[in-house]
Amino acid sequence: MADLKIGIILGSTRQGRLSPQVGEWVKGIADKRGDAQYEIVDIADYKLPFLGETDGTEPGIKAWSEKLASLDGFVFIVQEYNHSITGALKNAIDFAREEWNNKAAGIVSYGSTGGARAAEHLRGILGELLVADVRVHPTLSLFTDFENFTTFKPADLHLDNMNAMLDQLIAWSGALKTLR
Ligand SMILES: Cc1cc2nc3c(=O)[nH]c(=O)nc-3n(C[C@H](O)[C@H](O)[C@H](O)COP(=O)(O)O)c2cc1C
Repeated sequence: MADLKIGIILGSTRQGRLSPQVGEWVKGIADKRGDAQYEIVDIADYKLPFLGETDGTEPGIKAWSEKLASLDGFVFIVQEYNHSITGALKNAIDFAREEWNNKAAGIVSYGSTGGARAAEHLRGILGELLVADVRVHPTLSLFTDFENFTTFKPADLHLDNMNAMLDQLIAWSGALKTLR
């Protein structure tokens, strides 16, 4: 199991975004488990254009595809924008197809209602891409888990939920690797 590679995908790219704080917290919990190689995958690093608006030769497009192909599973750090996921995440998802197929994912979301509506939208998208999204879903509140809506201070109760989500993600990532 320890050879599984899990990408923690930051779903937002805007200046001043909160997703790096959440991603680092997830990685800190995940690394203590010793059951996989976890890494932060920041969409912003790839400088992806809008799908189809260029000739597709930007190096970030190839690098994004190769990164996804190298991973066995994903933790999506999802933030709610107008009751859905960010445009940046949807665009990045649309750039790949086979690279997503027959892999597993967990979702950690945040927003005024824990990002629940965005997470449910993402589940529909993942189904189309043959990504098996696990049930346990830590939801973080902008009101109670972020001081002044900016500094991430998660309530203790999220720790058990995070590990329960990762238990399911690792089980399914391992199982689906045999299918691929
Ligand atoms: C364009 C936009 C739309 C938003 N819409 C919602 C929303 O529908 N529901 C919600 O709970 N929060 C909404 N928010 C608040 C975001 O969830 C919050 O700003 C969060 O920190 C965004 O994630 P980020 O900091 O990683 O970019 C919205 C924020 C933006 C920028």
